Amino acid sequence: MLRGNEKLNWYYAACFTAFWIMLYAAIVVKQVYHLPIPLTHKDAATHAGEFIAERAQDFLLKLTSLGPRVVGSEANEVQAVKLLMDEISEIENQKSDYFDFEVDKQVVSDQYSATRLYQSVQNVMVKLSARTSKSPNYLLINSHFDSKPTSPGASDDGAMVSVMLELLRVLAASNGPLEHPIVFLFNGAEEEVLSGSVGFVRQHKWAKNCKVVINLDAAGSGGRELLFRSAANSPWLINYYSRVPHPFTNVLAEELFQFNLIPSDTDFRVFRNFGRMQGLDLAYAYNGYVYHTKFDSFSVFPKASLQNTGDNVLSLAKSIGNAPEMRNTMTSNYQPEYLIFFDFLGWFVLSYTLNTSIIINLVVCAAALVAIAISLYFVATKANLSWLPFTTYCLHTLIIQILSLVLATGIPLLIAYFMDIIGCSMSWFSANWLICGLYFCPAFFALGICPAIFLESTKKHVLSLNFRIQLFMHSHCLLLIILTITLTFLHIRSAYMCMLPVFFYAAALIVNLITQLHYIGHWFAIPVIMSQIMPFMYFTYIAEYIFFILIPVSGRNGSSTNPDLVISLVAIIITILCSGFLIPLYFLFRKARSIITCFLAATVVFIILASTPIGAPYTAQLAPQRYSIQHTNQIYHNLDGSTRSNESAIYVYQQDRHTETAEDVINRFGAIYEASVVCNDPSTCLQNRPSIFYSPNSLWLPVNESPIIPREKPVLTLTSTTVLNSTNTRRYNYTLTGPDHMAIFIEPKTPAKIVNWSFDEAILATGRKNFAITFSYGVDSKAFEFFIDLEHTTNNGSLGNLEIGIAGNWIHQKIQRAQIYEEFLKSFPDYVASVSWIASYESWLF
Ligand SMILES: *[C@@H]1O[C@H](CO)[C@@H](O)[C@H](O)[C@H]1NC(C)=O
Ligand SMILES: *[C@@H]1O[C@H](CO)[C@@H](O)[C@H](O)[C@H]1NC(C)=O
Ligand SMILES: *[C@@H]1O[C@H](CO)[C@@H](O)[C@H](O)[C@H]1NC(C)=O
Ligand SMILES: [Zn+2]
Repeated sequence: MLRGNEKLNWYYAACFTAFWIMLYAAIVVKQVYHLPIPLTHKDAATHAGEFIAERAQDFLLKLTSLGPRVVGSEANEVQAVKLLMDEISEIENQKSDYFDFEVDKQVVSDQYSATRLYQSVQNVMVKLSARTSKSPNYLLINSHFDSKPTSPGASDDGAMVSVMLELLRVLAASNGPLEHPIVFLFNGAEEEVLSGSVGFVRQHKWAKNCKVVINLDAAGSGGRELLFRSAANSPWLINYYSRVPHPFTNVLAEELFQFNLIPSDTDFRVFRNFGRMQGLDLAYAYNGYVYHTKFDSFSVFPKASLQNTGDNVLSLAKSIGNAPEMRNTMTSNYQPEYLIFFDFLGWFVLSYTLNTSIIINLVVCAAALVAIAISLYFVATKANLSWLPFTTYCLHTLIIQILSLVLATGIPLLIAYFMDIIGCSMSWFSANWLICGLYFCPAFFALGICPAIFLESTKKHVLSLNFRIQLFMHSHCLLLIILTITLTFLHIRSAYMCMLPVFFYAAALIVNLITQLHYIGHWFAIPVIMSQIMPFMYFTYIAEYIFFILIPVSGRNGSSTNPDLVISLVAIIITILCSGFLIPLYFLFRKARSIITCFLAATVVFIILASTPIGAPYTAQLAPQRYSIQHTNQIYHNLDGSTRSNESAIYVYQQDRHTETAEDVINRFGAIYEASVVCNDPSTCLQNRPSIFYSPNSLWLPVNESPIIPREKPVLTLTSTTVLNSTNTRRYNYTLTGPDHMAIFIEPKTPAKIVNWSFDEAILATGRKNFAITFSYGVDSKAFEFFIDLEHTTNNGSLGNLEIGIAGNWIHQKIQRAQIYEEFLKSFPDYVASVSWIASYESWLF
C-alpha cells in the first residue's frame, strides 16, 4: 500500500490524460453529431405511419432547384407557391377519411413596427383536423420557403418546409387520433423582417385559434435541430419534448437569446409577442458557415438531418395535437413558469421549474458544505493538528485556488487580446482545433501551476500530500458553491451548470467519507475520477455545440468586438467547470510541475501555429468570409427639382473582425472613406441592410461609373397638396412605385414638424428627427400610397421643409453591372462569399 506522500510515476499522467481525451472523442463527439439512419422509399412499405426522410428530400431538391427565393422574385412568388400547392394537393389526395383538409393561400400587406412596411407577401397554409374535432385550440407549425439573395436556402428554410410536407403527408394518411387541429403555415416572407408570420398572426382567420406553435428554422445547415427557445412559460411542452426520439436542447441557448447574445431572430418572436402563443423554437445550428450564403445548398444538407427533425416533430405533433393541456392551459389563470431544461448527450432530457432549481441548488450546496466540513474535521483530527495551523493552511490553499481561477480567466483572455492585436483573430474559424491549444491549454496550465508550486514548497508539511490535494478540491468546490448560490439568487437558470460539478464532487466526497477511502493512500482519487466522468462528458458535450454555434456566428457578428474574447471566455468557463477537480489529480504524479508546464508549452506551440497560414481564418466554400456590397448612386434634389449632388459609390458592409480584406481591395481602387464620415450623425443612420444607408464599420468608395439602374426605378409622385384647417399644416399625398425592395426616408426640416401621417402614428411622439421605413412587396407591384401632414411656422416659409428620400434595391434581379463594379467584386479573394446588388437613392424637397 502507498503511503500518504508517495507519488505515482509521471507516465501515468499520460494515461490519465489519454483517458479523458478518449472519453471525449469516443462518446461525446459521437453523441454531438449523432443522426438516425434515414428511411428511404424502400422502407415506406414496412414503416407505415413513420416519417420517410427520402420523400422530404425529394421535395427539397425540387424547391432548391428554383434557386434563391427572394420576396418579390418570380421564384418565390410564382414557382415556389405553385410547387407547394401541387405537393399539397397530392398529399390531400392520399389523405384518410378521418381528416378534414383545408388549404388556404394568403396575400397580405401591413405595417407592424415603426420601420417596417410590406405589401402582398404570400403564405400558404393547410389546416388538418379530425372530422369529429370540435377543439377551438390549434397547434401551429411554421417554416418559411423564401430565402436570402444568392442562397438556395436548402437548410434555411427549405429543409424544414420539406419536413413539414412529409409530416403533413404522414399525419393526413393516418387514422388519427388527433384531438386538436394542426395548422401548417408555409410562410413566404420570413427573411423580410418576419413579415409573413406577422401577416398570418394579425390577419388570418385561423390565427386566433392557434395557441401553441412549433417554429422550424435554421441558422446553419444539417446536424440535429436544437430546441433553443420555449416561450419560457410552457413546462408541459418541454415535458412532451423530453419524449421525442432525438432530443437536443439547453436552457443556456434560451438565455443567450434572452440576453440578446445571438444576432438572429425567428418568427417565434412574432408568434409569442403578437400571437400570445406558447411554443417551441427549433432550428438547425450546425455548420452556420453556409447560413445565408450561396453555399446553403441541397448537396451539403444531409438526409439524416431530415429524419432527425421529422421523427421529433412527428412525435411533438402527435403529443401536442392530443394534449389535454391544450384544452385548458390557455385560460387566463394559467401561471407561466420558468424552466430549467437540458438534454444529456442526446439520451434524455431533464427539466424542472425555476423554483425547484432553487431548492435543488441550495440543498446540493448545503450538503456539499456539510461534507466538506466533516472531511476537514477528520483530516485535522487524523493529522493531529490544532485548529490554528490547520485553518491557516486551509486558508492558504483557498487563496491559491482563487489565484488559480483568476489566472485561468486572465491568461486566456490575454492571449485572445494578443491574437487580435497581432491581426490573428479568428484563427480557429476554419481550424477549430486550434481553440484547444490557444484557450483550453493555458486555462489548464493556470489552474494547475500555482497549486503545483505550493504543494512542492509545503512538501514537509505534516498533512500528507493526499490530504493537501483534497484541500484544493474542497477549495474549488467551495468557490463553485459561492458561484452557484450567487447565480441562483440572480435567477440565472444556467446556474444548474455550476451546481452539477458540486453535486458530483459532493457525491464522491460522501463516498470517501463513508468508505474512509480518503485515509488510504491515493484511493480517494477513485471516487473522484468516477464522479467526474458524467460532468466531464456533459460539459465537453455542451462545449462542443456551443463552439459549433459560436464559431460561425463570429463571421457575421460585426467588426467591433474581438471574437477571440468570446471563444476564450467559453473555454475558460468550461475548463473551470469540467477540470477543476481533475487538475489537482495531476499532483499525484511525479514531476507534477513539469507536467502542468506541458500545457503552457502546448499553448506556445499553438500560438505559433495560429499565426502561420494554418490559422488563416477562411476556407473557400467551407468557411467563407461574408460581405454585403452595393453599387449605388445618390442624388439629392433642390426644391426646384435641380440636382444638388449626384454621387456614385460602392458601399461595403463589413461583417466580421477581418476588415483588412476589403480595405486591401479598396486601396487598389482608391481612397477609403469610412461610412461614418458620410453619415453625419451615426444615431440616425439606419442599421437595416436592405437599404443603402450606412451601418457602423462600413466603407464607402466613391467611383466615377454610375450603376446601371433598370427601367423600373423608384418613382415618387406627389399626387396632391392640401392646406388643412389650420393654415400652417399641409397634407402631402404621395404614391410610390419601384422595385420590390425599397426604403423611405422622411425628414422634416426643423422647426417644421410632422403632425400626422399614414404610417404608425406612435413613432411621431418619440421626438425623432427623421424616419426610415423599409418597404417590400411580394406578388403585387401596385403603387403604394401615403400621406404626410406637415406643420410649418410662418417664419420658415411653407415650402422646402420636408425631405423625402427613396432607396431602391435590386437584390435578386439579374441585371447588368458596371465594369468597375464587376472588377471590384472580382478583386476579392476566393474565400469571400459576398452578396452584392445594385441600389439607388434619390431625395427631394417639398
Ligand atoms: C447623375 O450622374 C450620372 C453620371 O454622372 C448621369 O448619367 C445622371 O444623369 C445624373 N443624374 C442626375 C439626376 O443628374
Ligand atoms: C390623401 O390621402 C388620404 C389618406 O389616404 C385620403 O383620405 C385623402 O383623400 C387624400 N387626399 C387627396 C387630395 O387625394
Ligand atoms: C391622423 O390621420 C388619420 C387618418 O386620416 C386619422 O384617423 C387620425 O385621427 C389622425 N390623427 C390625428 C392626431 O389627427
Ligand atoms: Zn430562416
